[in-house]
Amino acid sequence: MVTATEKFKITDQVGSIVTNWPAASRVFEQAGIDYCCGGKIPLDQACRNQGIEPQPILAALEKLVAAGTEPVVNATALTLTALADHIEATHHAYLRTELPRLCTLTSKVASVHGDKDVRLAAVRDTLAALAAEMGQHMMKEERILFPMIRQLDASESVPAFHCGSLANPIGQMELEHDQAGAALVQLRALTDGFNPPEWACNTYRAMLDALAHLEQDLHQHVHKENNILFPRAIELEIQRRAT
Ligand SMILES: [Fe+2]
Ligand SMILES: [Fe+2]
Repeated sequence: MVTATEKFKITDQVGSIVTNWPAASRVFEQAGIDYCCGGKIPLDQACRNQGIEPQPILAALEKLVAAGTEPVVNATALTLTALADHIEATHHAYLRTELPRLCTLTSKVASVHGDKDVRLAAVRDTLAALAAEMGQHMMKEERILFPMIRQLDASESVPAFHCGSLANPIGQMELEHDQAGAALVQLRALTDGFNPPEWACNTYRAMLDALAHLEQDLHQHVHKENNILFPRAIELEIQRRAT
């Protein structure tokens, strides 16, 4: 029988759990539960989708609470401006450094070991496409959407946005997040869950380690945008229009 715990319930949305308790993302990462793009579903459904029981997940979440694990950054406590700044300074900066390095690693591993596993060429191509898309995506956030959010945060009324409402660019960004999420799912499948074969050299292992970290960071990144920054910005826009 499924029982509700003190802090968490199986009916809680997985995205909301991570919003209120960011360290829970570690439990979800381990269980393969998507808390960013697919985070708007209740915990029991997310567990069913993964073919796992919710009890061990609830127990692991409770353990985090009992251990007093503190979030690295409590994104819900930041202003919209500070949160946009934080996303740029951490997640965008990480991708700008890491994606070119990963493109080099995946190309190298595909050219040296592609004959042993044909999927390595697909890893290289999937990563290259993701890197190109994320480059464009981050540029749109940094040049268009985030400045609009900061402008709204700083003013008493709704600025005259050329796109009408923040909901329009946000909808487009969320669509692009779904595409990036799908590329991560593909990379995980192509690498057997980022697990090296017995014969893998150190470059191969370094590539898989970097891909696993990329998945983790991108999940955190998209979670902060989809589940915290964007809904709060839309809510503020609605509030400002009503006053
Ligand atoms: Fe971003
Ligand atoms: Fe984004």
